[in-house]
Amino acid sequence: MEKKIDRALVADCLKRRFFVIPSFEIYGGMAGLEGMEKKIDRALVADCLKRRFFVIPSFEIYGGMAGLFDLGPPGCALKRNILDVWHQHFVIHDSMQEIDASCLTPKVVLKASGHVDKFTDLMVRDVKTKLGYRADQLLEDSIDKMLQDPEMAEERKKELTHIRARAEDFTPKELHEQIQTLGIKSEYGNELSEPYPYNLMFGTQIGPSGDSQGYLRPETAQGIFVNFKRCLAFNGGQLPFGVAQVGQAFRNEISPRSGLLRVREFTLAEIEHFMDHGEGKHPGFDAIKDVKCVFYPAVNKLGDKKTQECTVGEAVERGYLGHETHAYFVARTQMFLERIGFERHMIRFEQHLPTQLAHYAADCWDAMIYCSYGWTECVGIADRSAFDLECHTRGSGENLKARVVYDKPIIEEKLVPKLVKGVIGRTFRREAGNVCQAIEGLDQDGLKAMMAKHAEKENSEVTDADGKTFEVTPAMVTISKKTIKTSGHTFTPRVCEPSFGIGRILYCLLEQSFYVREGDDEQRAVFKFKPEIASVKCAILPIYASAEFNPILDDLVRTLSRARISNKLDRSGSTIGKRYSRLDEIGVPFIITVDFDTLKDNTVTIRERDSMNQVRLPIADIVGVVSDLSIGEITFDSVVEKYGLFK
Ligand code: ATP
Ligand code: GLY
Repeated sequence: MEKKIDRALVADCLKRRFFVIPSFEIYGGMAGLEGMEKKIDRALVADCLKRRFFVIPSFEIYGGMAGLFDLGPPGCALKRNILDVWHQHFVIHDSMQEIDASCLTPKVVLKASGHVDKFTDLMVRDVKTKLGYRADQLLEDSIDKMLQDPEMAEERKKELTHIRARAEDFTPKELHEQIQTLGIKSEYGNELSEPYPYNLMFGTQIGPSGDSQGYLRPETAQGIFVNFKRCLAFNGGQLPFGVAQVGQAFRNEISPRSGLLRVREFTLAEIEHFMDHGEGKHPGFDAIKDVKCVFYPAVNKLGDKKTQECTVGEAVERGYLGHETHAYFVARTQMFLERIGFERHMIRFEQHLPTQLAHYAADCWDAMIYCSYGWTECVGIADRSAFDLECHTRGSGENLKARVVYDKPIIEEKLVPKLVKGVIGRTFRREAGNVCQAIEGLDQDGLKAMMAKHAEKENSEVTDADGKTFEVTPAMVTISKKTIKTSGHTFTPRVCEPSFGIGRILYCLLEQSFYVREGDDEQRAVFKFKPEIASVKCAILPIYASAEFNPILDDLVRTLSRARISNKLDRSGSTIGKRYSRLDEIGVPFIITVDFDTLKDNTVTIRERDSMNQVRLPIADIVGVVSDLSIGEITFDSVVEKYGLFK
């Protein structure tokens, strides 16, 4: 009775409609505001994170492994909720495509993208123990230690602070000079080697033969670029459009540290926004141009000036941000960060200095969030120009271009060269092709200059792609004016990329949401997560652990779960105060309590975590109220207004 399934027909449709395709298909596929920062007590937060199983070192029972962490239930649920908001805020809001590409990446792809040669950090080694250190971080840490000297003169402190601020931008030679001048040694007191580039990718073999080298992807972006042609077709050939991807990235960091901030495996949520060249206009710009952000442009960093607060529209006018699209993603990023719970003065946007830019980036602004480790890069918003698609065009031989057709054809008078190939061939022989290309590649000004020279019976010059110059005689080319009709243009699209490090965002949010409430007899830790991202939206407690409450409790769990409201039932025998504290420590925003009155009149209380205010309301209203509170549709104050404060 089984239904007959035509696998080939299904497969054809899956590929054609871009449900699923071979990874790396184009490579032939592959089997298989300053001073306002809040003071954060890191040790207290860390204690709570571990005790309540938000996050712990991976493989803890084997002693753990540097740079690897596991998320426990509350951490995992928070991450999922942050990603849900991210998906809604970016992917759904802007009708983006989303794909899920392979983490294992063949070498040919990352060779073409430049990562095999250039995805490096500068490392120094202890010349005796051979232990490696990330050179800029070693310089920063050593300066931090020196600055602790209470006797140090103010002038010297200033000087060292300035060097520390520039640690990331030094060239290998400059870093070496600083390390030498400051007398920095390894932790064992030994001399250090000169800084040299160290590749951060984890290499591996793909398949049993051992001759197909691959890497674990260091960013998800390449999985989008190699699928560009299909994404463009999926979008009906139209630009601009965005493609998103959420997934794991792997970097063999030299010195993993700062908890979740620098790890070796982490979740990236990335968007590649493909667009035409030109002014970088964005259709959503008008809606966000008045969003205010704090900017720290490269010129200010170099000139030791401070940050500037202005709207993103003003940031474009002042030339901080190169174009509207970059501004669009800066504003939307700030809106996203505020939506998940960051306070505005804890966010700022910092431009990379030219020496800090990744090999693929023409410009980059990082969203920095303040945490106990200082200002921390959590999102990189880069202008990647056409770099990646051009690399993969060369690497794979595929045409990764787009075509824009104009609403109305452009008709214009243009100079057009007509080559006399016989003469060019006889003169330049093997290099004739390059000369032809160089002449054809001249712009209108170049052709005009050539025409003027030839009219005077003088020779002109062209330069080929390798920089070689050739002399062109009037006999080799005739240049004349023609009426040209252009209906569109073909080009390799340019890319603006916001790249979100979800682990860093999560960690900073944990720190920022943490506070300590003075209790009657003890201090209590609380995480004030916004309801929208809290790991569970509500808890359900009986006032005492008594069986007579069970039918109502079970019914509440069933009703809330059916309405997709995450909840946690705690019918343990601890006092109600202890159970409240445990729930505050994982940041549950609302607690429903079933008591003896519930048995009489079918009402329950709801307590709000931060104000600790309570209202009493009918069980029948619970789902609607908690659901609206959870998505921020109503505030608890409005619930108090409706039902009255319960004392
Ligand atoms: P850093 O300068 O701190 O090493 P990066 O400039 O290399 O970071 P990007 O390459 O721009 O970082 O990566 C994009 C995002 O990925 C960063 O904004 C950050 O949130 C996250 N990220 C990068 N490296 C790590 C890491 N080792 N651990 C956790 N998150 C990371
Ligand atoms: N995709 C950007 C980055 O990882 O840096």
